[in-house]
Amino acid sequence: MEDLFSVVDKVVIVTGASRGIGEAIARGFIARGARLVCTARSEESMAELAASAPGRVAVVACDLAEASEIRQISRIAEERFGRVDALINNAGTTAVAADPYQDEANWDLTLQVNLKAAFILGGAVAKIMERQGSGSIINIASIGALLGFPDNPSYQAAKGGLRQLSRAMARDFGSDGIRVNTVCPGYIRTQMTERSYQDEAMRQARTSRTLLGRWGDPEDLVGACLFLASDASSYVTGVDLPVDGGWTAQGL
Ligand SMILES: NC(=O)c1ccc[n+]([C@@H]2O[C@H](COP(=O)([O-])OP(=O)(O)OC[C@H]3O[C@@H](n4cnc5c(N)ncnc54)[C@H](OP(=O)(O)O)[C@@H]3O)[C@@H](O)[C@H]2O)c1
Repeated sequence: MEDLFSVVDKVVIVTGASRGIGEAIARGFIARGARLVCTARSEESMAELAASAPGRVAVVACDLAEASEIRQISRIAEERFGRVDALINNAGTTAVAADPYQDEANWDLTLQVNLKAAFILGGAVAKIMERQGSGSIINIASIGALLGFPDNPSYQAAKGGLRQLSRAMARDFGSDGIRVNTVCPGYIRTQMTERSYQDEAMRQARTSRTLLGRWGDPEDLVGACLFLASDASSYVTGVDLPVDGGWTAQGL
């Protein structure tokens, strides 16, 4: 059973590894013997991750809003470790816009970081995985890819697009042994959601709407990613896995 979920020596790229969900996922994989390529804009925030497993963690500073910077991530992974077994497209951004339907700059940035970056990096990594004949790509979307939420159209369009990008890639690369799946987190306490967590009414509304009656912690995402990156999910591709405490399962 232990071997089925093993990620020992697997080479795993995690974007947005500097804090929150990405940092928790990176720590979870490092603790289980994987070799990691951690990327985000703030290199210093990832120094501790690198120090936690000398020789097993590479850190790449990269702004995913700059398309031309993105391919260096897969290039460095291959130069450093010679292969890529899993890519976890976790980095994301959301910004409150005064009038979201008039704010094209907000739309462009949100689509670039949440969706286009995953398309570019996913395409670059798929080339490496094609040569290997195996690999797992995990796209971290959101319950906002599955349901309608107020006042944030660009984020939901990006996450919905990311979910569909997973299916497109699952279709196009399945015959090369590459699996592509989507994880949809519910409300997880991180910097991204701190404002609504600190607001008593908003925090309670989200708690009571969740079947398990609590917000998620970043560590709640680790198991789903271990499953999708390991042989435990060897026949699973093109699916959405909500990790949402039951948010999307509730009717009434
Ligand atoms: N928290 C939730 O409740 C929740 C729910 C559903 C989905 N999600 C999704 O889960 C993922 C992680 O979210 P989180 O809650 O952990 O958010 P977070 O705490 O705000 O962390 C976001 C991560 O993305 C990186 N990032 C942001 N913009 C970037 C850019 N332009 N270039 C490179 N890296 C960038 C950040 O690193 P730097 O700032 O150092 O670049 C950071 O590591 C996101 O895709 C988010 O949409 C979160």
